[in-house]
Amino acid sequence: MHLTADIAESKAFVEAQITVKPTIGIILGSGLGPFADTLENAVRIPYNDIPHFASSSAVGHANELVIGTLGGKTVVAMKGRFHYYEGVSLDQVTFPVRLMKALGIEKLIITNACGAVNTGFAPGDLMLITDHLNLTANNPLIGPNNPDLGVRFLDVSEVYSKNLRGIAKAVAAEQGVTMREGVYAWWTGPVYETPAEIRMIRTLGADAVGMSTVPEALVARHAGIETLGISCLTNMACGILDQPLSHDEVIETAERVKSTFLKLVTGIISRF
Ligand code: HPA
Repeated sequence: MHLTADIAESKAFVEAQITVKPTIGIILGSGLGPFADTLENAVRIPYNDIPHFASSSAVGHANELVIGTLGGKTVVAMKGRFHYYEGVSLDQVTFPVRLMKALGIEKLIITNACGAVNTGFAPGDLMLITDHLNLTANNPLIGPNNPDLGVRFLDVSEVYSKNLRGIAKAVAAEQGVTMREGVYAWWTGPVYETPAEIRMIRTLGADAVGMSTVPEALVARHAGIETLGISCLTNMACGILDQPLSHDEVIETAERVKSTFLKLVTGIISRF
């Protein structure tokens, strides 16, 4: 893979279909895809058409790039993302972030559905990601480093921008939305965690656990994009309640929170 050439080819393909330059990117997690439908003058590009994109198989995702405007800002939204558990490489998981950077984005909102590890949180809560734990022993930046794309040894003391978190908190307060804050742990999946693993993850300092976000956030940081992470806590993590986990519960909760979430993200983008 020749990353810079691939990025250039994808960029040219997308730019041939749009007349605007996006400045804000958003990655929409499970159940949150409808946000893309709120963009005006939208151009939709199926992932399968974009050179060098992997094809996504995850349930509940539409798999298209939607570029449009919202409150005067030009946004590129990923309706559906690639997950490591699908068997694609981390280069493929994070390629869309490289593309969005090439298209011109300066800020990125990464969203996800995840499990609540902090027992003080509840399904349906939204959580600002303050930091993460990478529990996978893998990293999207392993491999040759192209200094045109970012530095070899990356400082990750502030992956999730304090400035953007401040904006998100202010908008949440204005909208009367309770916003949790906490550490997100990345677990590869596709299996959920065991009760023992959840106890371990809590001991290690995480408030939530999920199967995405961290690779994209690391590459965004590498690319110099200011990033905000928002999780929708769709379920209590395994072993907290005396019941099995199900993908149906994840989708149901994401659906229940959808309108609050969409309004919040719209409000945040209007302040960017
Ligand atoms: N664990 C991991 N990923 C998830 C969960 C969970 O409990 N819920 C939604 N995505």
